[in-house]
Amino acid sequence: MDCRIAPSILSADFARLGEEVRNVVAAGADWIHFDVMDNHYVPNLTVGPLVCEAIRPHVQVPIDVHLMVEPVDSLVPMFAKAGANVITFHPEASRHIDRTLALIRDQGCQAGLVFNPATPLEWMDHVMDKLDIVLLMSVNPGFGGQSFIPEALNKLAAARARLDAYARASGRKVLLEIDGGVKVDNIGRIAAAGADTFVAGSAIFGSKDYRATISAMKAAVSAAQAARPVTE
Ligand code: DX5
Ligand code: ZN
Repeated sequence: MDCRIAPSILSADFARLGEEVRNVVAAGADWIHFDVMDNHYVPNLTVGPLVCEAIRPHVQVPIDVHLMVEPVDSLVPMFAKAGANVITFHPEASRHIDRTLALIRDQGCQAGLVFNPATPLEWMDHVMDKLDIVLLMSVNPGFGGQSFIPEALNKLAAARARLDAYARASGRKVLLEIDGGVKVDNIGRIAAAGADTFVAGSAIFGSKDYRATISAMKAAVSAAQAARPVTE
């Protein structure tokens, strides 16, 4: 199965963050999604590299840092040093997108662009060779617990087609991640539209039994992927 479940710490209990990330990983989480908000690019304020460094020893899985900040570049080396494995940013927040992607990779991390609901996919056209992951937002960034915007399913299908065409031409696989409003009852449709990496904050940390929730998500993804026509 081509599936990564990435619980977003935004909905975790911050007073017990180490224990929370250990618990979701023990429950089957594949990545930890780390939302960084600056009260400038988005109207909310969260955590920085110090907190990333603090949780790093608690888990072995990749830490997926989602930068909702402007400017971007100065934070990249700080998060790489703090133990990030994947760093994604919003193209509107960087003056020089190609340079920022190269900077993330120079720091030894996987690099990705994040597309807001209204941001066109064309932003990826001329930087495909520098992308390891594409993240589509299915809510407007800034807050956990919002509802999934259905148009994101059409956008996922369009992004899937682009990434499949690129994989056929280059032999290189770029991951397709979705973030916002992902729940047990819609993740199957999201997987069917082409996502392979799934951020879920409130659906996981708001549930009583992390393992049951993550298992139900993986089962739904597996069923959807089994039913999906093979495109490669
Ligand atoms: C929103 C963040 C998301 C958010 C997801 O700006 O990027 O990662 O925490 O939370 P849920 O799953 O609750 O929508
Ligand atoms: Zn996020």
